[in-house]
Amino acid sequence: MAKHYYPIMKVCRRETFNAAHRLFNPNFDDAKNQAVFGKCNNPNYHGHNYALLVCVDGPIDPETGYVIDLKILADIIDEEVHTPFDHKNLNLDCPDFENIIPTAENIAVVIWNKIRKRLDSSFELELTLWETERNSVFYNGK
Ligand code: NI
Repeated sequence: MAKHYYPIMKVCRRETFNAAHRLFNPNFDDAKNQAVFGKCNNPNYHGHNYALLVCVDGPIDPETGYVIDLKILADIIDEEVHTPFDHKNLNLDCPDFENIIPTAENIAVVIWNKIRKRLDSSFELELTLWETERNSVFYNGK
């Protein structure tokens, strides 16, 4: 038998969404919230243009030549991220953040968990979330 080797590849899909948030901890008083979160503690919220890069690692399927059909990944991101979060207030509109401070870090974890549930367990999943041009977070489930 010939030994088959299927290269492991990383395929990525980029998506953007706009959302508002306010960073505050209800267990802190106003002064401490202001000290910790600064401008992001603005009680009337503020917005970001988020960019998200979702990457899936796996072997190239010899029958399709794909790791994963990117249309499938795009649909998952649309359903799990874009539809629930785009043009929303993360604190007020999104039950995912009811008890979670919507920092970039926490948003990335929420998104990772939502997409993870939709993917075959054989795939590795990692994502990068940009909150601004200069600030990003990376999460791979660890
Ligand atoms: Ni902010």
